[in-house]
Amino acid sequence: MIKKLVCNLNYSLIEVMKVINENAMNISFVVDEDLIMHGVVTDGDIRRALLNDTGLQEPVRKILSPSFSYGYTTDSHEKLLSKVNEAIRVIPIVDEDFHLVDFFECKRGSQFPVAIPNLSGNEFKYLTDAFMSSWISSSGEYIARFEGKFSGYSDCEFGVAVSNGTAAIHLALLALDIGEDDEVIVPDLTFAASINAVLHANATPVIVDVEEESWCIDPIKIAEAITPKTKAIIPVHLYGQACDMESIITLANQYDLKVIEDCAEAHGAMYQGKKVGSFGEIGCFSFFGNKVITTGEGGMCVTNDVVLDQKMRVLRDHGMSKTKRYWHEVVGYNYRMTNLQAAIGLAQLERIDDIHNNRNLYEQAYRSVLDSKSFTFQNDINGRTKITWLVSVLLKDNISRNAFISILKDRGIDARPFFYPLSAMDIYKKYCKFETPVAHKISKIGLNLPTYESLKDVNEIRGIMVDVQK
Ligand SMILES: Cc1ncc(COP(=O)(O)O)c(C=O)c1O
Repeated sequence: MIKKLVCNLNYSLIEVMKVINENAMNISFVVDEDLIMHGVVTDGDIRRALLNDTGLQEPVRKILSPSFSYGYTTDSHEKLLSKVNEAIRVIPIVDEDFHLVDFFECKRGSQFPVAIPNLSGNEFKYLTDAFMSSWISSSGEYIARFEGKFSGYSDCEFGVAVSNGTAAIHLALLALDIGEDDEVIVPDLTFAASINAVLHANATPVIVDVEEESWCIDPIKIAEAITPKTKAIIPVHLYGQACDMESIITLANQYDLKVIEDCAEAHGAMYQGKKVGSFGEIGCFSFFGNKVITTGEGGMCVTNDVVLDQKMRVLRDHGMSKTKRYWHEVVGYNYRMTNLQAAIGLAQLERIDDIHNNRNLYEQAYRSVLDSKSFTFQNDINGRTKITWLVSVLLKDNISRNAFISILKDRGIDARPFFYPLSAMDIYKKYCKFETPVAHKISKIGLNLPTYESLKDVNEIRGIMVDVQK
């Protein structure tokens, strides 16, 4: 970007106008051949020069003012912030010899939200293609292409694209005939979608604690909660970490239970080299805007069971027969994904390895600067391959989470506390008959930090993190 902001001292005003027009930032930094800074020129400066009868072919050096705002490479983020305002939004950053090396921009509102989707691959191309085909509802070639590619990516044979991740979990429960009088075991520390889906299916959720090491559902606690009514377990691969699938599947086989994996936050995570979503009967994914890959809103159920695949396809589409149009075999739902969403999803999936690598670079950046005396990162656990969804840390006793969030907020960084334990909320506490101290402890000290697919902000965020710990 810096290159787009630069013009030479000898450029004519018309040439500088072209530079400003290209960069769309209303400003250009004027340098000599050695990249020494001589001044800044804005749209307004050129307009005033023209009104004062300066010709368009005159060199820009003629209208340069000797004083302008700039920062040094050694300036702290706070110092740079003090040099910009609503009037001076962009300043050059120079080294000690006054060479131009970078720029600093004052952005409105939160500069670094927790998540920003990146749609820079084939997303727009495929979306336009789907749009131009006029198949904008839930028929169209992108649905099957996305289902095929994503289920393959998740080590499964079949994929059923749906309208969101919560619908995916609900559909999985329905396809497995889980309903009234059935109990379904869920972790206390997670987003409420899994417990809500159990309640929508008229089954009874049973909340259990999570492991200290992984923050995911604890198989020992699952074993303690199994009753003759238990029909299923919903392990949630939380914050990109895989659950202990070997112990969970062993329990499921022993007690004849179904396993529905909630993989909304863990696309591509693995347990013993196998992708999450492929261990239980059905794996459920979300493609909400803050997820590893997104379709705006969206979700998918993956499975290796052809009967479940067919059942989910019928239930997703109003319960309508696949062979007899307008003939309804079961009471179904409209949980379909649109062709437009699938087009975006397919393009996102093409880049998923890069997306993972880039998100991981954010995690490495945080790991390299956040002091281990105050912060604990997610564990790398033997046999489990976590992915970086939102970088997640626990704060130690010497640092207050609220104070840290508010310091970060002042610097434009939006950090989010972990989920509340489900059992802390009035509407869910009756489903928690067991103590869940680990979920409560982790929930109180956990923090998610901005994590993107694009690398544009990683250095700036790292700099702020260094600054705020001084
Ligand atoms: C663990 C978990 N499960 C399920 C969901 C639900 O997905 P959706 O928002 O697409 O319904 C989410 C998040 O959104 C989630 O984080």
